[in-house]
Amino acid sequence: MQNRSSFGSKFGAIAATAGSAIGLGNIWRFPYITGENGGAAFIIIYLICTILIGIPLLLTEFSIGRYTKRNVFGAFRVLKPHSHWYFIGILGIATAFVILSFYCVVAGWTMSFLAESVVNNFAGKSSLEIQDSFGKFVDSGWQPIIWTIIFIAMTAYIIISGVEKGIERYNKILMPVLFLILLILVGNSVFLPGFKDGINFLFKPDFSKIDGSVILEALGQAFFSMSLGMGTMITYGSYIRNNDNMLSTAGSVALTDILIALLAGVAIFPAVFSFGISPTSGPELVFITLPNIFLQMPGGYFLSLLFFLLLLIAAVTSAVSIMEVLAAYCTEELKISRRKSGILIAVIIMAMSSLCCISQMPDSAIRIAGMNLFDLFDTLSANYMMIIGAFLTTVFAGWFMSKAKLRNEFTSGGLYGVKLFPVFIFIVKFVAPVMIAVIFLSKIGLLRF
Ligand code: PHE
Repeated sequence: MQNRSSFGSKFGAIAATAGSAIGLGNIWRFPYITGENGGAAFIIIYLICTILIGIPLLLTEFSIGRYTKRNVFGAFRVLKPHSHWYFIGILGIATAFVILSFYCVVAGWTMSFLAESVVNNFAGKSSLEIQDSFGKFVDSGWQPIIWTIIFIAMTAYIIISGVEKGIERYNKILMPVLFLILLILVGNSVFLPGFKDGINFLFKPDFSKIDGSVILEALGQAFFSMSLGMGTMITYGSYIRNNDNMLSTAGSVALTDILIALLAGVAIFPAVFSFGISPTSGPELVFITLPNIFLQMPGGYFLSLLFFLLLLIAAVTSAVSIMEVLAAYCTEELKISRRKSGILIAVIIMAMSSLCCISQMPDSAIRIAGMNLFDLFDTLSANYMMIIGAFLTTVFAGWFMSKAKLRNEFTSGGLYGVKLFPVFIFIVKFVAPVMIAVIFLSKIGLLRF
């Protein structure tokens, strides 16, 4: 076996994993999906899914990765050599392509907003004008494509230079700064006229809004936000050192991830209600809300600069973790050099992301199942591919993987969480697969209550 790299310290592993988990999924996707699914009741289900299924699944993926020390495809090959379980790996690789295709577009928007903030382009604009100019930007097609391509090149550059030294180091410093800015925005929210409406929307549940599709969205968001069900955490798990306590790593990552999403919600929704923006605005929600918030804040110019810069960094650290799934596969299985892998992957993603941008133009003919490619890829990955990937992974770990191996990884060789292991196994064997299956089947109409 080749000499594989690993994260340098436990804190490094937490920083890198948290860097993967915390990204546009928390600050862009969480608010818009919450807005489309009615608010508080959705959030409660999202929290249940994260804690009950997300954390055990994160530990499962870490265990598979750390035990096999392989990429997502190789991992299942090592565990069950003459079987078809490597299908999970193939699905993971496909999912990574699909996610990156739209994720990089949103990261491109972030870059353009950063540039607009630098030249103070939002100054003096009304809420309507801001919405309008964002609409024109997306409609143009070519503008988002340019930013997206720059972003992909940047991500590939980091992948080519190796993850540990770059990502691990930056994450440690930058994630706390992002957190701090979010806190400032939350503090500002309190003074907005729509504060009460925003908070009610986020925390006062109306369970009549819940149906199968809302529950699936919540589960999908939980997986998306924690980078689960497609191999990222298997790949990162393979870089975790053998005697590091995975349990506390998984716990801290999950809690920070939830906290950042909720803070983003508290920062965004009071403004949504104050500026007359619709909570169901979809993917553009955060981008039309944020400039308004910054405009009316003292020091808004600098805060907006800093915020978009950090959002960009959060996006890069997540995009790198998705691309790493592909890079680890190319280098380990296809024996392509890291450099060539990075270039190859980047070119494919650039083409796919450009198609996403083109399909968002007003007269575009690219529509599948009534959606443009961007929306299709977003829904397809979180609500279908990651759900199926997660389901198969728990079934595999619960029913087909040796308990001794799993136990050894879960407890880091009997060091931590020995008493929790039976609970973990119960969830992985029964609770998680059954819950995922029921949620998925009821959404696609194969199961009715
Ligand atoms: N969790 C990341 C975010 O919230 C997105 C992501 C999904 C990263 C899947 C890796 C794998 O932005």
